[in-house]
Amino acid sequence: MSNWKHRHVLDLANFSIEDFATILKLANRFKAVPTSGTRKLPALQGRLIATLFFEPSTRTRSSFELAAKRLSADVQSFTPNSSSLSKGETPIDTALTYVAMGADVLIVRHGSTNVPEQLAQYLEKAGYKKTSVLNGGDGLHSHPSQGLLDLYTLAKFFSPNNPIPDAIQNKKIVIVGDILHSRVARSNLWALTACGADVVLCAPPTLLPEEFADFVDAPPPGQKYDPVSKRGRVTVVRSLKNAFQDADAVMTLRLQKERMRQNLLTNLKQYHYEYGITHESLKWCGKKVPVLHPGPVNRGVEISSALLEDNSICLVRDQVRNGIAIRMALLYLLATSN
Ligand code: CP
Repeated sequence: MSNWKHRHVLDLANFSIEDFATILKLANRFKAVPTSGTRKLPALQGRLIATLFFEPSTRTRSSFELAAKRLSADVQSFTPNSSSLSKGETPIDTALTYVAMGADVLIVRHGSTNVPEQLAQYLEKAGYKKTSVLNGGDGLHSHPSQGLLDLYTLAKFFSPNNPIPDAIQNKKIVIVGDILHSRVARSNLWALTACGADVVLCAPPTLLPEEFADFVDAPPPGQKYDPVSKRGRVTVVRSLKNAFQDADAVMTLRLQKERMRQNLLTNLKQYHYEYGITHESLKWCGKKVPVLHPGPVNRGVEISSALLEDNSICLVRDQVRNGIAIRMALLYLLATSN
């Protein structure tokens, strides 16, 4: 992939439409490879991928590890509870240990914003040219592989045979829930608007400050320019009924109680009544629309169990499956361009 320019993947704010197209195209090729019979591709034979998850994960970590194995890479998995973190080692020194072992890609998840970026900057300054950093989710900031797999899932839904970024152009995508604490929402805002979708954000003011309407109006601090010349619109709507009018797809988010510093909701039952996604509330869309959720899920809070299990509408399983192909594409691009 000669047009690939990113040595690290830390955020989607600096991705051009060509970057999104490259990843979707490659993921689609990987997805077409049969997973039975000849299970592995030799593409990353002899490369080392390390997963450094300082914060818990089920989907992201497992699918990165599976993606690496399907490309025949060696995989090193770091487990914080049984590591030397308890002896005072810092996350950067932990990561440097895997760099010294010859890691080609470090996938880093951390509860604090910017730890993956700090590591990437450290590696650049210290002249470690062989190792890439891939953000597996940092604080409230960014979760690029999730944003990419959501984009691919939507593109595949709207254009099954040709899931390109254009497939979501002018679509109205509604994101509902705990947007304030969601790195997934932030990554989706960059990805979806870059591809020309209009994003409607819907939540009560405690979970969605009005300023989110301006989120993609300027690149984040430290980034000189926006590589996307014209983005889709972002609007903030408080009522689910209004947000759902003419929607083409709905994404609901988990209430992240572990990140809430104060009680932001009076009552979960009331929240479900006003913002929970159910077969009933989806009728406001006026047509059958797909529902996405990045997981993990609070059943009966942001989404009803019945809807979560309705595979004719709910794309959660597709998101998980597509996550493997997207992560194969990311690992391939990073590990072969160093
Ligand atoms: N969507 C997501 O990041 O899930 P995990 O926390 O299980 O990785």
